[in-house]
Formats: sequence, structure tokens, C-alpha cells
Amino acid sequence: MIFDEFLKRACPPRGLDWRKYRRASRRNVLSRIYQLGLGGFSEYADYIDANPLEAAFLPNLLRVTVSRFFRETKLWDHLVADILPAMVAEHSASRPLQVLHIGCCNGEEPYSMALLWKNEIEPVFPGAGISITALDIDRSCLDRAREGWYQRKTLREAPGDLLRKWFKPEEDGYRLHDEIRRMVNFRQFDLLKDDLPREQDIVFCRYLVFTYFQGRRRRELAESIARSLRPGGLLVLGQKESIGPQKEDLLTPVHQTLKIYCNVSQA
Ligand SMILES: C[S@@+](CC[C@H](N)C(=O)[O-])C[C@H]1O[C@@H](n2cnc3c(N)ncnc32)[C@H](O)[C@@H]1O
Repeated sequence: MIFDEFLKRACPPRGLDWRKYRRASRRNVLSRIYQLGLGGFSEYADYIDANPLEAAFLPNLLRVTVSRFFRETKLWDHLVADILPAMVAEHSASRPLQVLHIGCCNGEEPYSMALLWKNEIEPVFPGAGISITALDIDRSCLDRAREGWYQRKTLREAPGDLLRKWFKPEEDGYRLHDEIRRMVNFRQFDLLKDDLPREQDIVFCRYLVFTYFQGRRRRELAESIARSLRPGGLLVLGQKESIGPQKEDLLTPVHQTLKIYCNVSQA
């Protein structure tokens, strides 16, 4: 059995979209097969069918952990030019904005938010506050995030002035300034088990639920993400993703190309 056939057999019953897994996942599966002393993909597929615990472990085994600072730069331009100033003007006199990143990887996405806030929003709205929470299931990703050390390639979309101001070049990479690191609260979290924090103004859920999950599991996760937003709060997806027509009654598109949705469920 080749890897694609294994994915086609093992993924759909577990609510996973087999087409989205790449070479990195193949390596993980092969090392698991080796660990278990099995003969190949076909035997492993049988093993999964016979072992519910192994089946539950499959999403972790296939997990893709790739991210970049300011991934899809147009989104960040729009956040600075439109979304954040409007939200700050509406709310921040009474409370800090609540921003949540689900599947934060090594911190690239929540730190992009912190950098934008520090550089672009704080100078214009000096009294405004923000609380950034970043969740991921993967402990080693969270450790790397807290450490704040990055290779150049993950910073290729970062604006040069931010890079110069907030990163210290080191031998093989760049270290993020403590002031920015302190702005993000990282937490280990399993989206398939744990309850999301509520009353969020903006939730980022990019290249996780709406890429790797499908069917009922994806619909249930969309509902739980909608519940984590306050009325009028915004959900941000990746530009190659979409929420699907079934959930547009809860989360209405407000920007088609940037994939931003508004929680209208209780508004
Ligand atoms: C492809 S990365 C996306 C990173 C970032 N959001 C971006 O778009 O650049 C997906 C992340 O989701 C995390 N993840 C996967 N399953 C998860 C789960 N059940 N609960 C929380 N995080 C999960 C992975 O560990 C990984 O860091």
C-alpha cells in the first residue's frame, strides 16, 4: 500500500481530509510503523482499525506544523488599516481587545499580531490594551514559541523595519525582543477536547480546522469557534480556506478574499 492509499483509508472515518497531508506526515507515519514493528502502511491501517487509542492518536501523528511571520501579508495590512482601529475605537476605552490564536505553531502568528499592535496601533491609540492568547496542542511548538528564536525563512514576509527594531540577529537566526514575547500568553490546548475561551473579539484559526478536518467534526468545531466569539467578533481563516455554506448562518463573510467572518449568532 502506498501512503496516499493509507490516507484515503485511515482519514475519512476520523473526520480528516486525506488530501491535505504531505511528506512530513509520511515520515511521522513511517517512524510510528517502525516503532510498532509493523510491516508497512497496510498493516498499520489494520492496526488503527483494531485499536481505538491508536486511531485517536492519528490526528497528532499527521499534524503539520508550518507557519511564518505575517503569512499572507494582505491580511495584516487590512488588520492595521481597518479592523484594529475600528475595534479599538469601539471597545478599548472599556476593556482590552481579546485576541485568540488557535493552532499558533511556534508563535509566528500571535507574535505578528503583537508586533503590529506595538508598532502601529499603540502609538496612535496610546491608552488601548490588548490581550493575546495563543493555543496549540504541540508542547515542543509552544516551547519554541516561548523561546522566541526564529530562522530567517520564517521571517521573509516580515516588514524590514519591524525586523530591525524587534529582532536581534544571532549566529543562525533572529531572537525576538522580550517586550514582544511578554505580550503573548501561550497555552497547551487540544481543540478536540478542551473548551475554548469565550468573549473573544478576534479569533485566528488558520490552516488547521478548515484545512485538515472535514464533515461532522469540522462543522462541530466551527460551532465551538463561533461560540468563543463575542457578538460581532471576527474569525480569521487562511486565504486558501473557507467555512462552507452550512455555517454561514453563524459566521457571515465580511471579507471574501481575506476570509474574515463575523459572528452573527447572538448579535
Ligand atoms: C499548519 S499549522 C498553522 C499555524 C498558523 N495558524 C498559520 O496559519 O501559520 C497548524 C497548527 O495547529 C496545531 N494543532 C493541530 N491539531 C491541534 C489541536 N487538536 N488542538 C490545537 N492545536 C492543534 C499544530 O500543532 C500546528 O501548530
